Amino acid sequence: MFLDFTSLAPREAYQWMVTTILPRPIAWVSTISVDGKTNLAPFSFFQGVCANPPTLMFVPVNNRQGGKKDTVRNIEAVPEFVVNLVSHTLAEEMNATSALLPYGESEFEKFGVMSARSDHVRPSRVAAAPVAFECRLDRIVHFGEGPLAANVIFGRILAAHIRDDVLGADGKPDSRKLDLVGRLGGEDYTTTRDVFSLIRPD
Ligand SMILES: Cc1cc2nc3c(=O)[nH]c(=O)nc-3n(C[C@H](O)[C@H](O)[C@H](O)COP(=O)(O)O)c2cc1C
Repeated sequence: MFLDFTSLAPREAYQWMVTTILPRPIAWVSTISVDGKTNLAPFSFFQGVCANPPTLMFVPVNNRQGGKKDTVRNIEAVPEFVVNLVSHTLAEEMNATSALLPYGESEFEKFGVMSARSDHVRPSRVAAAPVAFECRLDRIVHFGEGPLAANVIFGRILAAHIRDDVLGADGKPDSRKLDLVGRLGGEDYTTTRDVFSLIRPD
């Protein structure tokens, strides 16, 4: 099979990309509006960028009407956010928070997600998240225009909260204990419990 992406409609390109680029980690992002309303939403176009300076990125695309998602509106107004990672036990709560709520209505409150105070940024974090990165906005890079166009959000990592029970004997995070979920195509997910090792060549 050969796909010519230059002739695909954005919606078709999206379907092929999300069913092949996988597994994708999930950034469960908490933000806050100027008047203090909290927001929480998952994004699987998410990656680390570099360690010098410590930076990550995630990608809220525009909605079907071409408008910005609440996460982007909040970060443009209050340039801080928390990227919470999602363990298997949190998967259903995470999925619930992808619901379309009116701007200003909090997914924390609506879906009973427990929050905890952050140390360096105004948005709260998810209390039960195995890892939560407190971030300050570095920049937003826009790709394309209209529906499905991207707002790539780059954040400087200021601090991380790592639950002690996900650390291994060596004091580092253990992927089996983290038990993070990754997004696959359609409605499928995977976890970081299925592990194999390879020794890197010199
Ligand atoms: C697992 C998962 C991954 C998602 N990944 C993305 C993504 O990478 N980009 C995006 O724009 N929307 C993504 N969504 C959809 C958003 O979560 C959804 O549009 C949400 O309502 C946005 O919330 P907000 O308007 O409060 O920012 C994803 C949803 C789920 C369940």
